[in-house]
Amino acid sequence: MRDVCVLSAASTKYGKSDLSARELALEAAKQAILSAGIDPTEIQAGFVSNAFSLSEKQGHLGPIIMSGLGIPDVPASTIESACSSGGSAIREAWVNIGAGLYDCMLVVGVEKVSQLDTITATTYFSFGSDYIFEGACGASFPGLYAAIARAHMRRYGTKEEQLAQVAVKNHENALHNPHAHFHKKITIEDVMRSPVVASPLKLYDACPFSDGAAAAILCSEEFAKKITGRTSEHVFIRGSGRAGGTGALHQRPDLTSLNASVLAGREAFSRAQITQKEIDFLEVHDCFTIAEIIAAEDLGFFPRGEASKAEEEGRTRIDGDVPINPSGGLKAKGHPVGATGVGQLVEVFEQLNHKAEGRQVKDARVALTHNVGATGGSCAVHIFEFR
Ligand SMILES: CC(C)(COP(=O)(O)OP(=O)(O)OC[C@H]1O[C@@H](n2cnc3c(N)ncnc32)[C@H](O)[C@@H]1OP(=O)(O)O)[C@@H](O)C(=O)NCCC(=O)NCCS
Repeated sequence: MRDVCVLSAASTKYGKSDLSARELALEAAKQAILSAGIDPTEIQAGFVSNAFSLSEKQGHLGPIIMSGLGIPDVPASTIESACSSGGSAIREAWVNIGAGLYDCMLVVGVEKVSQLDTITATTYFSFGSDYIFEGACGASFPGLYAAIARAHMRRYGTKEEQLAQVAVKNHENALHNPHAHFHKKITIEDVMRSPVVASPLKLYDACPFSDGAAAAILCSEEFAKKITGRTSEHVFIRGSGRAGGTGALHQRPDLTSLNASVLAGREAFSRAQITQKEIDFLEVHDCFTIAEIIAAEDLGFFPRGEASKAEEEGRTRIDGDVPINPSGGLKAKGHPVGATGVGQLVEVFEQLNHKAEGRQVKDARVALTHNVGATGGSCAVHIFEFR
């Protein structure tokens, strides 16, 4: 495999938008192309990560977006892997460029759901679970993650206040992120008093429904050298891992861990040939606060049952020893499903180029992204390095 480089990464603002999925995707893609300093005709292929464009009566986004960029002949297909669509698209681009098939690719993730009311959006999202056994029986994602939270609380004594601490930190980080859905500081009391969505998870334990898009130009090392004239100071994909898990929770022996995260993390670390100690910060899939705690344990950053204590002690803050979600995470930066994994890369790109003003992780050089589909039916983990 050849080394794969991230030439640029860009994002729209996340939140409620009046733009359509195609308009959001084109905004992010054009920004990524501009900041890469390339002409659109240099893009040889693309992946669009998206889960719910049919809710806008539009499938087959690849040709729509490539035509909008003025390159209709360039092949592009949609990658749908529920909430891990973005991470999966990055993985596929890494494979294609690494194998030498293409030198320059566009990855663009997008979601537009704010046209749907809460019940309809919840129903659409539940199509990403094992619908016959879960969604159709009324078990929405908040309910399924509530079951996961209960199991973790029972086994490890995890407390609701510790879950709340994740939300407080991520809302604080998002205050400094111009792309974020929420710019609202909250306290533990605010979380504890917020309406219960699915006990023990409350409004502030949940990510919101967000619209948004994120894009990146990935390329070979030689292509990056040709465009920038530099042989160093690029963001490289150092390790990539991908794994699956059962679609439904009832098929799992243990709800306190997502096996897909464990396996994808292991593959990424093994390919990168580094250890957790060398990672300067993580962007993990905190669709609910419990998910950040479990991710930190599944990826080996804390022993089982100890991540919640680390959150409480401030170790996961931007200035802590294991910074998690400096962007604000899905919780506060927002979760436009198809865009989320690519958006994590945007944060990594800004951080590793030391351009994350107000939320910069000091001396960041190596970072990890973790993107989960549904309750762990799929997972993509990537390790990036600035060198
Ligand atoms: C929690 C949830 C049900 C709230 O939705 P809702 O009741 O329709 O909320 P509304 O859009 O009516 O917003 C009501 C208020 O709460 C705020 N809000 C909504 N969701 C929020 C969230 N997750 N966190 C913080 N604030 C939120 C809104 O900004 C709004 O504030 P305002 O009154 O000051 O404008 C919804 O956000 C949800 O289901 N989230 C999880 C999505 C999901 O499952 N994703 C997939 C993960 S696997």
